Amino acid sequence: MRQKLVIGNWKMHGSLAANAALLEGIKAAPARARLAVCAPFPYLAQCQALLNGSQVVWGAQDVSAEARGAFTGEVAASMLGEFGCTYALVGHSERRTYHAETDAVVAAKALRALEFGILPVICVGETLSEREAGQTEVVVGRQLQAVLDALSAEQLGRVVLAYEPVWAIGTGKTATSEQAQAVHAFLRGKVRERDAGVAERMAILYGGSVKPDNAVELFSMSDIDGGLIGGASLKSEDFLAIGNA
Ligand code: PGA
Repeated sequence: MRQKLVIGNWKMHGSLAANAALLEGIKAAPARARLAVCAPFPYLAQCQALLNGSQVVWGAQDVSAEARGAFTGEVAASMLGEFGCTYALVGHSERRTYHAETDAVVAAKALRALEFGILPVICVGETLSEREAGQTEVVVGRQLQAVLDALSAEQLGRVVLAYEPVWAIGTGKTATSEQAQAVHAFLRGKVRERDAGVAERMAILYGGSVKPDNAVELFSMSDIDGGLIGGASLKSEDFLAIGNA
């Protein structure tokens, strides 16, 4: 039985005051799932300080594929590691779309994170036109394959996968639990071809308009191990309700 994991993706939201209130709210109540928040880089030290000693862990929303050097604006995995960062989102669809991250770049970022002890949360997902063209498995299969090709089984064992249909992100349109389960089962099957033990242990999260009122049904599916939560992670009551779903 895999324990549920619920990760908040704050995206480019927050302020010192708002974050402090949100983190106090999240810390105050117990959740059945393991909880994590992925904050903008300038707020990671605040998360480190305020979450110290709590059950809630924190992560970044991106990480450089490069180790160090002349890469203005990039943040290295070693820097995140120094702060005790647990997770880094990798290949979120907003990074793939607005920053032209390819499958190869996403795999390189995941590798770099692992090198410094950070667990990559690797995001995959199809657009609406890809789904309508019946290409969902082709697209997410290709995105996952790049990771399978780059990582050893041991490294794969430290990966969290997130299925986020692009058409469901921030739109209020959630995949039905059956649609999501089908893709999760497909993804787990592909990991299983590589290593059955890793596939059984791997957390595969669903993301895309998860709210307190749809989380219970989504999380009841056998291959959905929790959620990657955008909008609803900015309100502690909603985030905690999802963490208890
Ligand atoms: P959403 O975002 O919950 O606001 O749809 C999810 C995500 O982008 O990770």
